[in-house]
Amino acid sequence: MSERPVSFSLPHFWHGGDYNPEQWWETPEVWQEDLRLMQLAGINEVSVAIFAWSSLEPEEGRFEFDWLDQLMDRMAAHQIDVVLATPTGARPAWLAARYPEVLRVGADRQRNLFGERHNHCYTSPQYRRLTQRMNRALAERYGRHPALKLWHLSNEYGGECHCDLCQSAFRQWLQQRYGSLDRLNHAWWTRFWGHTYTSWDQIESPSPRGTGSLHGLSLDWKRFVTDQTLDFMRSEIEPLRAFAADIPVTTNFMGTYLGLNYWKLAKDLDVISWDSYPRWHASGSDVDLAAQVAFTHDLNRSLKGGQPFLLMESTPSVTNWQAVSKLKRPGMHLLSSLQAVAHGSDSVQYFQWRKSRGGSEKFHGAVVDHAGHENTRVFRDVQQVATALKSINQAVGSQIDAKVAVLYDWENRWALEGAFGPRVEHRDYQPTVEAHYRPFWDQGIAADVIDMDQDFSRYRLIVAPMLYMVRDGVSERLEEFVKAGGTLVLTYWSGIVDDSDLCFLGGAPGPLRALAGVWSEEIDALNDDDVNHMVLESENPLGLSGSYACHLFCERIHPETATVLAHYASDFYADEPALTVNDVGRGHVYYMAARNGPSFLNDFYRTLSHHLGLPTALAKAPPPGVSVEVRHKEGVEWVFVMNFSEQIRTVDIGSTTCEDLLSAQMVSGNLRLDPYGVAVLKRTKGR
Ligand code: GLA
Ligand code: ZN
Repeated sequence: MSERPVSFSLPHFWHGGDYNPEQWWETPEVWQEDLRLMQLAGINEVSVAIFAWSSLEPEEGRFEFDWLDQLMDRMAAHQIDVVLATPTGARPAWLAARYPEVLRVGADRQRNLFGERHNHCYTSPQYRRLTQRMNRALAERYGRHPALKLWHLSNEYGGECHCDLCQSAFRQWLQQRYGSLDRLNHAWWTRFWGHTYTSWDQIESPSPRGTGSLHGLSLDWKRFVTDQTLDFMRSEIEPLRAFAADIPVTTNFMGTYLGLNYWKLAKDLDVISWDSYPRWHASGSDVDLAAQVAFTHDLNRSLKGGQPFLLMESTPSVTNWQAVSKLKRPGMHLLSSLQAVAHGSDSVQYFQWRKSRGGSEKFHGAVVDHAGHENTRVFRDVQQVATALKSINQAVGSQIDAKVAVLYDWENRWALEGAFGPRVEHRDYQPTVEAHYRPFWDQGIAADVIDMDQDFSRYRLIVAPMLYMVRDGVSERLEEFVKAGGTLVLTYWSGIVDDSDLCFLGGAPGPLRALAGVWSEEIDALNDDDVNHMVLESENPLGLSGSYACHLFCERIHPETATVLAHYASDFYADEPALTVNDVGRGHVYYMAARNGPSFLNDFYRTLSHHLGLPTALAKAPPPGVSVEVRHKEGVEWVFVMNFSEQIRTVDIGSTTCEDLLSAQMVSGNLRLDPYGVAVLKRTKGR
C-alpha cells in the first residue's frame, strides 16, 4: 500500500518548532503576542496540533476547527509554514472510555488506564477507524491551505501492546513468515526445553509471566512490533494521501530508539525527522557527546539515502526529564543547532515555542519562558540561530558525500543484546559502533550510518563492528563490494547467527569466514579489569607499530587465507593472531579479533583512511574537539567548523581565502575558534 513518494524540499532553512496554542485557548492576547514574538525570534515554521485531539474533537464526531482555521490563516498571513500533526499520539478521555480496546496492554497482560500519551494499541480497529476519520477531516479541511507544508504523523511512535488483538495479529504475521508450525519450531529451536508448539494459538508474545528467553520468538516479536507500527502508520497516511496528495509526510523519530527498526518506516516517509536531546555539560565530555550526536544525525541522513532531514525537536535551553537540567553554556545553543545542519538537517526546530503553564513539562525549556517576553538569554540565543540560518540559507537542500559507511543494524542489536553470552555486561553494540565511527568524525571524514540491507557500492570503506547476525544474501553482497575494490573491516563476534537467530554451523564467522580468511575457534570474555595487548608485526603493510591494549573480548582465530598483522601479547593465546587482513579480488578485509581501545582505532583508521585516500574536509586534520563537516550544492561547499571543546582552538583551514558566513569575515590560514565557537566557510568545490 506504500504510495508514491512526494518530494520534499525547502526554499530556506526552517527555524521553528512545536507550538501548542490550544493550551492558551482562554487568553487570545497570548496568541497575538506569540505572533509578535515569532517575528522577533525569526521563526518561519510551527508544528501544530500534536496533542490537540481533544481540542479538535471534544466529543465523538463533533469537530471544532475554528481555532485551527484561525491559526492556519494567521500563519499564512505571516509567512510562517505549518507542519500539521495528526493528533493520534494522545487520545481524548471520551475515546478511551467509550472504546477501552484502544488502551495498551502491557507484557504482563494488564490493560493500562486512560492517561499519558502513546498509550494505544496499534492493532485496534476502533483506534484505526477513529484516527483515519480524524486524519481525513484534517486533510479535507487543510490539504490545500497555503500554510500547510508537511504532515507530522502522530508523535514519536513507540512502545508495544500485548492485547488479544495484537496476539492474533502476531500469530497471523508468524503464519505468513513461516507457513507451517514445523518451520517455526525449527527456526525457534523449540525442542530446547521441550517448548514445541502444536497450535498457532499457543504462541504468546514475550512476557515476564511467560517466556522471555526464546530468542527467536523475541526477535520475531520485535520485528512484528515494527511491522505493526508501520501498518498503523500507513493507515494514518492513507486518508492524507487521498485528500491531500501533494503534502509530504514525516514522523518524528527518536534517534537510535531500540523499539523500532526505523529503516522499515523510512521507506513510507517523504522526509526523515528526529528529536535530539543531548545532555550537554553532563559529567562526561561534550566532545564525546558531540561525536555520538553526530553519529545519530548521520544515521538519520542515511535513512533516506543522504537526503536532508529535519531536526524536528531540540530544546532551546534545557529539558526537564534528564537527571540534571543544566543550562546550555553560552555558545552551545548555536553550536549544537548548527551541528544538526552540518550533518544534513534543513531545519532547527524546538520543543517548544511557549513554556506550558501546567502539566509535566512546565519546566521544560521553551523559546518563550513564563516571563512572557523577549528579554531573556534563551530568546537571544534563539535569535542568534535565526540570524545564522539566514546567513547560510543558500546551503538548504545541499548534500554530503560519504565514502565511508559504518554499519549499525537494529536486528543485529536486538539479536546480540537479547542473547546470553559471552558476557552479560558490556557487549555494548552501539557504543562499539560509535567507537569505530569516532576516528572519522575526529578527522573530518564524512561517514554514513547504514544497516546491512543498504547499497554498499557507493562506498570505499565499510566498517561493520560486531556483525553478529548475518542475514541472507549479506555476505554475498559484501563479497561483491570487496571484490570490486572495497575495503571491509570486521571484528570479533561476527557471523554468529542467521536471521532466525540460529547459530551458523561449521565455524565462525559463518558466512563471513571466506571473506575474512579466518576461522574463529573461540571467544574469551575478559573480566572488567583484565587487559591483554595486541603487538603489531614488524613491517606490516599498514606501517603501524608497537602494542595496544585489548579489553573484554579476545577471539582465538586461525588465519586460513588471511595475513597476520598483529598478535596477542599474553595469556595462553599469546603469539596467536589478533588482527588480520585478507585480499579478496581487488579489495581487502580486515578482521579485528579483540576489542581495541580508542588509541588503536584512531591510529588504525587514520592510517587506513590515508591509504584509501578518503576525502577530508580540510587538508590538515582539525585539532581535538573540533569537528568539520562539509555540505555541497551546485559547485559550492559549506564547511562547518565546530569547536566542542572548552578551549580556544586554532584550525588550519588552508591558504585559500574564503568567507565565514557567520561573522561575514574573509578568512584563511589559522582560524581561531572560541570555546563552543563555530564558523561556516563558503568555498568553491574542488578547492
Ligand atoms: C519528546 C516529545 C515532546 C516533548 C519532548 C520533551 O521529544 O515528542 O512532546 O515531550 O520530548 O523533551
Ligand atoms: Zn493491542
